[in-house]
Parts: sequence; structure tokens; C-alpha cells
Amino acid sequence: MPATDRARLARLLAAEQERYTADHPRSRELFEAGGNLFGRVPMTWMNKWSGGFPLYLDHARGNRITDVDGHTYVDFALGDTGAMAGHSPVPTTTAVARRMGELGGITTMLPSEDAQWVGEELTRRFGMPLWSFTLSATDANRWAVRLARLATGRSKILVFAYCYHGSVDETFAIPGPDGTTVSRPGNVAPPVPLDLTTRAATWNDLASVERELAHGDVAAILTEPALTNIGIVLPEPGFLEGLRELATRYGALLMIDETHTFSAGWGGATREWALQPDIFVIGKSIGGGIPCGAYGISADVAAAVTRHTDAGDADIVDVGGVGGTLAGNALSTAAMRATLDEVLTEDAFAHMTSLAEAFTDGVRETLEAFDVPWSVSRLGARSEYRFARPAPRTGEESAAAHDDDIDAWMHLAMVNRGILMTPFHNMALMCPETTREDVDRHTEAFREVVGELYG
Ligand SMILES: Cc1ncc(COP(=O)(O)O)c(C=O)c1O
Repeated sequence: MPATDRARLARLLAAEQERYTADHPRSRELFEAGGNLFGRVPMTWMNKWSGGFPLYLDHARGNRITDVDGHTYVDFALGDTGAMAGHSPVPTTTAVARRMGELGGITTMLPSEDAQWVGEELTRRFGMPLWSFTLSATDANRWAVRLARLATGRSKILVFAYCYHGSVDETFAIPGPDGTTVSRPGNVAPPVPLDLTTRAATWNDLASVERELAHGDVAAILTEPALTNIGIVLPEPGFLEGLRELATRYGALLMIDETHTFSAGWGGATREWALQPDIFVIGKSIGGGIPCGAYGISADVAAAVTRHTDAGDADIVDVGGVGGTLAGNALSTAAMRATLDEVLTEDAFAHMTSLAEAFTDGVRETLEAFDVPWSVSRLGARSEYRFARPAPRTGEESAAAHDDDIDAWMHLAMVNRGILMTPFHNMALMCPETTREDVDRHTEAFREVVGELYG
């Protein structure tokens, strides 16, 4: 396999950095003026953007973002799926404006009819019969994890190394030596040692899952249908079926988090691959950018929870630890209804998926042309390249493939050519407004940039 010329990479990175700094004086000025913000940004993770300071937003619509220096980008980051429907889709903004203005009542503590429509639609797409709403996927995971523990009477959650499910305490775990579970690197001040709450296994390794389940204390396996937060690591044939079978055999629930993998299709990977979760979680994209989230539970899980609530040993209507005041508010549910009904439709997914295929083909052709030691994976409307060949099979392998310098260089090179990729990795997501010309623009830029290092 060809090696990466590190000296050449350092020169290319320095040149892209210089161009980025020169092209974005206003963004830099705003960053330097942000002294009252921790890390100078509204949320510390915004410092993940390469270049020493992030671009500052002026406006965004569809798949275009314009920064405060007047540059307009083809946006393939799309809010890390939060803007899968495109920026400010008209049906969503119309419904939201109506709820805020004409109708009124953003947060009233009362249910709205929209929530019922959304519940029916989520059932139609993902199959779970019963739904609750949240304002983030993190909260959907948190509250559903509590219900899983209640329903099973077990204390632990099984997760896969280098998964991400939002800031859920139980999930920041990796397998340690000799079958132990330990905190993943960088986990900020966990409340208790991870082995008290979690069992960690390795993706695509059913033996590691069975070893952990055999302890008999796992309430739920919490997983994405494909890992998407350490690059896309697809499931090998039989892996997801094996998870379902092992969960049932060992009395654990299967909890599928489709917050990102919704890109697989109109009904997510759950529908595409005929998965059978006991608990289903989704967030971000379905509100068209307005904060939202949802979890669905099976009739069996609902019955088990209800047995406890009827007996009075668990409280899901007041301060029992499941729910938030603003959850399911009328604004959020109006946004979900409009986005699901009119924007993220079956036709939209067909368009987005075919563009992601073209994007992936374009990347693959360049990787082959220059014999680049990277790989590319696709999950429906989303494509991602990783600095490893062959494509990593596990979270551990994918984490090991991370390369700060190549990552920074690729992101800056793309920004400098008018293309935004997700800052956390090298994700490209298509939205309904993405066009074939946008994809071709990426293909050309990718070929030019990669050729500078490997050509
Ligand atoms: C699979 C998955 N679940 C949950 C979350 C958390 O979403 P939020 O940050 O909206 O709470 C994320 C965020 O990236 C995610 O990728």
C-alpha cells in the first residue's frame, strides 16, 4: 500500500491554512471577539472545525451556506444530519411560522394534534407502535435507557466501542483488558466508573456481544444499525440478525438509534434491513432543524413499564426522570409534521440516495486512480471516506485510522474550494436540494486535492 508523504502533506496543509486565514478575516475577527464564550464559540465542539477558527454563519438555505465573509458553500455537512431536509425547508418554516405567529402557543404543556399525526407517521415508517417526544436524540436515548432498565429489571447497557449516542453517560465505554469495560479516551468526568453501568463489545464481533450478555445483567443493547460516528462502519452480513437473536436469547432489549442512519432510507435502516428493535430512537433530522427527538417502544416494553407504573414503583408523569418540560411542544411537533409530510418523503430519499451513489463513485474513482490508501462507505443518502484501506470493520479499527493532519488538510482544502464536509469526520450528506452538479463539483475538487498528495 502506498505510504503518505508526510513532508508533502505538511506543505499542503500549511498552504491551505494560509489561504483559509486570508479568505476569512471577518470570521476570524468574530472568533477573536468571542471572549465571553467558553472556547470563544457557543458550544465548545464548534472548535472542531479545522483552521483555528470556525466560519461564522451569515445565512443558509437548501444546501447552501453563506459565511460572514461572503463566501457561499455547497453544504454536505448539513448540520451532521440536523439539516438533512436542507436548510430552512419552506414547508417546515411555514408550519413553524404559523405555530409561532398566527396560531400561537410554542410551549403550553398541552398536547397538539400534530403530535398524533407524527406518531402515526413514525409508526408507518419505523414500525414501533408507541412514541414519546423529546427535544434531542440524547434525551430520547437517556429516557429510553431508563425505560429499558425498568422493563427488564437489569442495570446495564451494552454498547459498541467508539459508538456515539449523544451525551449519555452510560455510552462512553470501550472494552478494556480481560473482558473489562472502561471509559473511552476523553470521557469528561463520568459520574461512576463505566463498568458499573455498561458492558462494551466490539462491532461486527458477535462473540464479544455474547460474552457480555452472558453475565445476565444487560437491560438493552444500544446501537446504531451502522456505526456512523467513527466514520461509517457498516454491519457485516448476519451481524444485525445475530444481535437480535442474542438479545432475545439473553433477555435483553434491542435498542436501535437511527438518529444518523435515517439516511439509509425513508424508513431508516430499520425498514431497509427489516430490523426488529424493541426500542427505537431518532432525532435531529425529523424536525427540519427545529429541536426534536422521539423514541418508540414495542407493546411488550410498554406493558412491562406500565406494570411498574401501575404498581406505583416508577413515575413517568412527574419527577421520575423521564421527560422534560419543553419536550413534545407544539412548535417542535409542527416542525416534525411538516418535515416528514412534505420534505423527507420517499421521492426525496430516492433523489438523495442516487446522488450519494454518484458521490461515492466519484470518490472511489479518485482513490483507485491514485492508489490512495483510503476507503469510502455509503449508507443511503450519506457517504464517508476514511483514511484506511480496506474499510475498517470495527470501531477500534476505525478509531486507529484517524489522522489529524490528513483530516485538517482535507477539510480546509474543501472549504477553500467552496465545499463543506462535516467537521467531525469526512461525511457528505445529500438533501432534497442537492444537485448532480453539486456532487460533480465535489468529485472534481476531491480529485484535484487528493492528486496533490498522492498524484
Ligand atoms: C447516533 C446518534 N444518537 C444521538 C445523537 C445525539 O443527538 P443530539 O446531539 O441531537 O442530542 C447523535 C449525535 O450526533 C448521534 O449521532
